Amino acid sequence: MDVVKQSHAEEYGRQPEVIASAPGRVNLIGEHTDYNEGYVFPMAIDFSIRVALSRRSDTQLHFYSVDYKDRKRASLPVLKYRKEDRWANYPKGIINEFAERGHELGGMDVTIHGDVPQGAGLSSSAALEVATALAVQTAFGIEMGREELARLAQHAENEFVGVKCGIMDQFISRMAKEGHAMFLDARWLTYHFVPLSLKTARICITNSRVPHGLVDSEYNRRREECRRCVDLLSLRKPGTALRDFTPDDLRDSMGEIPETTRKRCLHVVEENQRVLEAEEALRHHDLVAFGKLMNRSHESLRDLYEVSCPELDWLVKRAQETEGVYGSRLTGAGFGGCTVTLVEEEAIPRYREHITAYERIFGFRPEIYLCRPCGGARVLESRI
Ligand code: GLA
Repeated sequence: MDVVKQSHAEEYGRQPEVIASAPGRVNLIGEHTDYNEGYVFPMAIDFSIRVALSRRSDTQLHFYSVDYKDRKRASLPVLKYRKEDRWANYPKGIINEFAERGHELGGMDVTIHGDVPQGAGLSSSAALEVATALAVQTAFGIEMGREELARLAQHAENEFVGVKCGIMDQFISRMAKEGHAMFLDARWLTYHFVPLSLKTARICITNSRVPHGLVDSEYNRRREECRRCVDLLSLRKPGTALRDFTPDDLRDSMGEIPETTRKRCLHVVEENQRVLEAEEALRHHDLVAFGKLMNRSHESLRDLYEVSCPELDWLVKRAQETEGVYGSRLTGAGFGGCTVTLVEEEAIPRYREHITAYERIFGFRPEIYLCRPCGGARVLESRI
């Protein structure tokens, strides 16, 4: 029997009414562009979080994490972020969001289990949010479109957890299509799928295992820098987000915008252009061009946006030096987490060999995941 189902039955003495599952993601290109209303190009991966849920007749909320062997409790009318609730703040945030939108809820027993590597920049939190949201939606018969549910999950993370993330992770986790990457315009939430027909090439994710402790504070800081830059740029030319500006606009503003801020924003506007080119390259099966864009994206994240770290730079450099690798870059918010590499299958052993010194140099044992593009969140079982 499924682990989450069995654990739920053992923990609460009854079968779950709903089991929902949502995948993590890897972003192929388009980093730190979503909250600037630009473009991203992620795919969902075959790691997921499962949430089992049964309704209670009171207003109590019981959460059980199989992986942490940890239990948390809360009560419906008063849901507050509490640091010590750690992982449970994500499902609490989702439930709070439904309640704030006026949906009639009751108490719930919730069990969580998953295999998305934690804190690795593969969106384990978005997967948990989306799986919880889908389970709650199903259990309480709430009518809500898939895009709306992704937005609800993002809002919960922004307001309840306090990380001002963009829409990419929740959106791909809910909407992904098997065998495809998603080109998403984060301003209009328009999107289309591009088949990832890589023939003999593979998407290889390398987990640096660097704990990305800085990520939340630095993330919010970068976001703020982008906002300030838009305020200054829009004195010269109309625009409400970095999406509205070009590299030339940034060059023209030299001296008027603090240099660090200008560098950050140059990354964003050029990265948007790279996503457009990458999507085109993939549609034409041009993996060489796609790989080059990945490499340029990494350089820009390292030198302009400054969200890389020595470990990620080392892994990317080693990958890029390996024969049979098209391109490699950090993926996700940065400051640790993972790299994503487009590589010929036959070159993977060579790449593994090439990074063996990593553990000796940095003290973390890297992990390699060969992922395939998966479908988005779904209800696995429902007895409602
Ligand atoms: C995190 C956020 C996303 C996105 C990336 C950086 O994963 O959740 O919204 O901003 O960082 O591209």
